[in-house]
Amino acid sequence: MNPFSVEGKSVLITGASRGIGQALAQAFRDQGAHVYGCGTRAESIAWMAQEAESRDVPGGSLTGEVLNVTEPGAAAAVIARIIEKRGRLDCLINNAGIASNTPAMGFKEDEMEAIIDTNFKGAFRTCQAYYRAQRRQGGTIINVASILGLVGGPLASVYCGTKGAVIQLTRALTTEWSSNNFRINALAPGFTDTDMTEMIKKRPAVLEKMLEAIPMRRMGRPEDMVGAALFLASDASAYMTGQVIVVDGGVTAM
Ligand code: NAI
Repeated sequence: MNPFSVEGKSVLITGASRGIGQALAQAFRDQGAHVYGCGTRAESIAWMAQEAESRDVPGGSLTGEVLNVTEPGAAAAVIARIIEKRGRLDCLINNAGIASNTPAMGFKEDEMEAIIDTNFKGAFRTCQAYYRAQRRQGGTIINVASILGLVGGPLASVYCGTKGAVIQLTRALTTEWSSNNFRINALAPGFTDTDMTEMIKKRPAVLEKMLEAIPMRRMGRPEDMVGAALFLASDASAYMTGQVIVVDGGVTAM
């Protein structure tokens, strides 16, 4: 038995329409998991149905679900549907997130609230819905935080605050839920080449400076996050909870 296997596990991934969430959804499906990939709109998750038709992966499956994590009650409904079908939901990956490039003094109330609502409250609500539904069976939660939850960064004050909060949420839930057979860990990606970092890539001087700060001298690719997520979802990390795995090409080592 391969302890790193996620074969047959049911996995819910929020924000799976693109970027890191999409890479995780594809990889978990390829490894034989039953993946429920969420997007905020039906169109943004249409790629899953197309892939399912065009590519048969024995054992694994990919199903699209519409879920906006800012809507209270929405996660509970999706989780209930999955449990009705599969009997359990083995793993929740809270990946949905938004960012902005705003100086600290430039934040308007609604922009601040949107980032907090999605990144922190959205992850928390989904954790609560998952715990409520799985409290008898237990489960595994992976919160996608960021290195900006561990170190500071310019033009990202609210984002940094929410990602730090996600890491602390991970630790706090560990103290409450681990005795009920839950494991809650965080994955902290470094600068990763997705739509979220498009603004940086458009500014060559900023990009160059950022690459200089990365010992591996390249941005992460969404696929670079897969190994750590598979580890955290699998039995290989069975005695690990309340921890943060950093995948950042060495940025936070400097
Ligand atoms: P992205 O912008 O490509 O994808 C974000 C995903 O979140 C999209 O699928 C989007 O639809 C979804 N989303 C946004 N608001 C939502 C809501 N209210 N409800 C449900 N889904 C929602 O960005 P990326 O880079 O793939 O980000 C994924 C996660 O990784 C985020 O939590 C982000 O903060 C985190 N991260 C990204 C880094 C990067 O450099 N790209 C670095 C560190 C962390």
